Amino acid sequence: MKKLVENIERLKQQHNAVILAHNYQPGEIQDIADFSGDSLGLSIKAAQTEAEVIVFCGVQFMAETAAILSPEKTVLLPDKSAGCPMADMITAEQLRKLKQEHPDALVVCYVNSTAEVKAESDYCCTSANAVELVSSLPKDRQIIFVPDQHLGRFVADRTGRDLILWPGYCITHVMITEDDIKTAKAKYPDAIVMAHPECSEPVKELSDELLSTGQMLKFAADSTAKQFIIATEMGIIHTLKKQNPKAEFIPASNRAICHNMKKITLEKIVWALEDMQYKISVPEVIREKAKIALDKMVEILPAK
Ligand code: 13P
Ligand code: SF4
Repeated sequence: MKKLVENIERLKQQHNAVILAHNYQPGEIQDIADFSGDSLGLSIKAAQTEAEVIVFCGVQFMAETAAILSPEKTVLLPDKSAGCPMADMITAEQLRKLKQEHPDALVVCYVNSTAEVKAESDYCCTSANAVELVSSLPKDRQIIFVPDQHLGRFVADRTGRDLILWPGYCITHVMITEDDIKTAKAKYPDAIVMAHPECSEPVKELSDELLSTGQMLKFAADSTAKQFIIATEMGIIHTLKKQNPKAEFIPASNRAICHNMKKITLEKIVWALEDMQYKISVPEVIREKAKIALDKMVEILPAK
């Protein structure tokens, strides 16, 4: 492992590369990354970095977002099959049809979507700023929200807006059940339950805080609580423990693993930098349109 990390460091210098990792990445990858964070934080970093090469340790839509925001950079995804099933639950064709059915509606897409879907959208958001973004939209306009129905319901609830939802969902977050939360709360009655807005509604109703992964890290760091039940992908527990060694973090469910996120390994990062693979790029006509929606996303900061 030491040798792999040394190789990555050397190759990074050689190619003027930066390593960005999502909070769900395997622990050893979060540890060697130049920056790890949530989708919003990573998008901002990708747009601002001066490095020539971005090695994106995450899934396809995240690397695509970096390529849209920073077209002059080389964006590498170390495993080209690391996708997000939720992002593939709506196609541009399906979104065009939905827009025809609601011709006056504004379209907000979750960043967990393809570049083609972003290009068909007016605005993009992440779970960290979806509420702020939707709140800023004119009250007299209908809003289509795709593809995550669960994040959509959370946003509708917080903003009081009646959103037109798409039935997409995250296959990892729906693995966490109402019973999982009840069992964990019975065992750890003093623990604070933090859940991602992608969780199902019954899980969210039983939770104390609904937060993006970046907001969970901040909440835990600012809190005096000593126990937390975590209702999101388990990879984040590595960093929660590292940053808060005195607190206890209990996964709500051991099934909450995103296997696509776990496809990235240290070996694959070495190969990515040695062979400049796998380059992620977006056709210019799509990129230009998708960038308009993404620029709005990176401008809106979360309230907390
Ligand atoms: P965050 O933006 O909260 O990190 O979430 C990304 C994601 O893919 C959640 O499943
Ligand atoms: Fe997609 Fe869910 Fe994995 Fe996030 S956790 S990347 S939404 S499949």
